[in-house]
Amino acid sequence: MPSRTTPAVHRGPLDGSTAAEVRALARAAADHDGVAPLSEQPLLQLESGPDAVHLLTRAEDGSLAAYAQLDLGAPELAGAELVVTPAARRSGLGRGLLAAARQVAANDPAAPRSLRVWAHGDLPAARALAADAGMSVVRELWQMSLDLREHPVAARPTLPNGVEVRAFVPGQDEEAWRRVNARAFAHHPEQGRLTREDLAARMAEPWFDPAGFLLAERDGVLLASVWTKVHDGADGTDAAGEIYVVGVDPDAQGLGLGGALTGLGVAHLASRGLPRVILYTDADNTVAVRTYTRAGFVRSAVDVQFG
Ligand SMILES: CC(C)(COP(=O)(O)OP(=O)(O)OC[C@H]1O[C@@H](n2cnc3c(N)ncnc32)[C@H](O)[C@@H]1OP(=O)(O)O)[C@@H](O)C(=O)NCCC(=O)NCCS
Repeated sequence: MPSRTTPAVHRGPLDGSTAAEVRALARAAADHDGVAPLSEQPLLQLESGPDAVHLLTRAEDGSLAAYAQLDLGAPELAGAELVVTPAARRSGLGRGLLAAARQVAANDPAAPRSLRVWAHGDLPAARALAADAGMSVVRELWQMSLDLREHPVAARPTLPNGVEVRAFVPGQDEEAWRRVNARAFAHHPEQGRLTREDLAARMAEPWFDPAGFLLAERDGVLLASVWTKVHDGADGTDAAGEIYVVGVDPDAQGLGLGGALTGLGVAHLASRGLPRVILYTDADNTVAVRTYTRAGFVRSAVDVQFG
């Protein structure tokens, strides 16, 4: 049993063996809960994130019993994800992590901020812990999915006049893509501030495939893009395709590009023989939800953020 509930605070990248302990803890929780406690960004930041703060609670035998990661990269709010190993739950570790994370956010030298915590899968224990800490739901993220065995891929979508689609070229298209992405997601708390390093980290992942990253241009000017991702099932989860990001420049919105690119992304993933396509969207993004519903997607899971 853990000897104490106050975590150690570590700023900046973790060493390789500590990062491996965090990944193992996250896997044990995912096996137990049926949903992964840490999302892609905190996992990518374990050994590289300059703005990440790690909170580590160890048991008496030195093993990692609980972990939280805070992201202090956004100007106003600090985001966090936290997880307690299944065997050490209900002994105050979650409460201790949450209190410590709030303290780190409130005392940040750059700017004091309030904390927002993601709970993947909206599990009862997370709701109870948040309620215990006086936090309530401030944001809801939906996973939507499309079963390709039931929905055969529609005919190639029609593109607006003069628009052509081609694959992303690494080494050439990064800056144009980042500019349109930042414009398309200007009001989005995470996606809109994706840095050159964040993009490079994703392009270095084994799943990255430029053939599944499509750019829509008119006269050589980038208007929109769809980026897909293949989950091959090697990590024990079900194989699925993901519509990872669809972004349309504000000047090109309303032309039907979002729906057309979603269709092209789905067709690409279907051509890879995947049974299912998933995507994530904010529940209150009605335009996006309408676009995906029209393409046949239905809500399949919910993540909530407490604040
Ligand atoms: C949510 C989670 C972090 C809680 O960790 P924990 O160490 O078990 O929580 P604590 O022991 O500190 O619990 C503090 C309070 O939260 C509430 N709580 C936590 N788990 C609960 C459960 N399963 N059922 C009911 N209440 C619960 C209780 O009020 C508890 O106080 P009490 O034990 O005095 O009654 C843990 O279940 C977990 O890792 N879940 C998967 C990841 C996740 O959902 N993270 C998001 C967290 S917002």
